[in-house]
Amino acid sequence: MERLTDKFGRPITDLRIAITDRCNYKCVYCRTGNQGAQYAELPFADYARMARVFAGLGIEKVRITGGEPLLRRGVVGFVEELAGLRTLDDRPLDLAITTNGHLLAELAQPLKDAGLRRVTVSMDAVEPERFARITRVSNGFHAVLAGIRASQKAGLDPVKVNCVLLRGFNDDQIVEFGKFARDQGVVVRFIEFMPLEEERVWSPEIVVTLAEVLERMRRFRPLVEIPHARSETARRYTFDDGVGEIGIIAPVSQPFCGHCSRVRVTSDGKIRTCLFSLFDHDLHEVMRRGGADEDMAAYIGQVIAHKEARHHIGEPGFEKPSRSMVHIGG
Ligand code: 5AD
Repeated sequence: MERLTDKFGRPITDLRIAITDRCNYKCVYCRTGNQGAQYAELPFADYARMARVFAGLGIEKVRITGGEPLLRRGVVGFVEELAGLRTLDDRPLDLAITTNGHLLAELAQPLKDAGLRRVTVSMDAVEPERFARITRVSNGFHAVLAGIRASQKAGLDPVKVNCVLLRGFNDDQIVEFGKFARDQGVVVRFIEFMPLEEERVWSPEIVVTLAEVLERMRRFRPLVEIPHARSETARRYTFDDGVGEIGIIAPVSQPFCGHCSRVRVTSDGKIRTCLFSLFDHDLHEVMRRGGADEDMAAYIGQVIAHKEARHHIGEPGFEKPSRSMVHIGG
């Protein structure tokens, strides 16, 4: 079987599957705060079949996302099913999940036992009040901290923490997050804010850039860059004493589209070849029509071939994608 490659020669090895677009948080940079549109959720067996077909096409990593994926009962069984799949080189898939961490305290160990390797927790402040103001949930902070601890205890490794910085909102947390990375033994990754929110609040002025994070962090302590893999989205750094790791993901100021290895499946079974795609591709429809695995593979191959060259954030004529982040999957 041929490995997935797009027309620019980029190997596609990284699949993200959103299993719901529901979320128990209403983060200010993501959700409207009202119950918005909701897309369908498929039975886990359908996502598992898609993952199996993708694995047969060279996918090596699968990340479960949402919405908030831990809201779906049965997620542990789904991980177990994915853990049974093999890459083309007959290795287990690298299985990860991105979660807001709210339900992780109880689920970390069962997820690890099911075959999950790593976890990324979205956390945009290290201070309870600030955290509540961003998530618009009052009791989240301590639940998420407990989730991080439980993940470490369960041996999920590494535990990463994603922080989306918004100027004037949580950019005063940069150094606090540096300390958090050092004290808690988690990898903190700052992500530049992209125009993917349900409401239009994005503007270039709100984005806290990689350069700015580095400058502020260096005033706290000198940083040493760690080499990163080509397809890795984050620039990685440790501090001068080797304690703690931070990463910066800079899709806005330093786009990495040229090395993009990702493809996404939405909760309703549509393929998205870019976060900023204006269209999606209905893989589930191929299944509903009674398509065989080979038909799905052929469809996926065609769709991937036409993956967009790059996004156009901040350029004149930028068109907002047809779905927001919560409805795509992170
Ligand atoms: N820009 C950048 N990152 C975002 N995330 C959600 N929305 C945005 C956005 N508009 C982050 C989440 C999560 C990860 C999947 O993406 O906080 O950690």
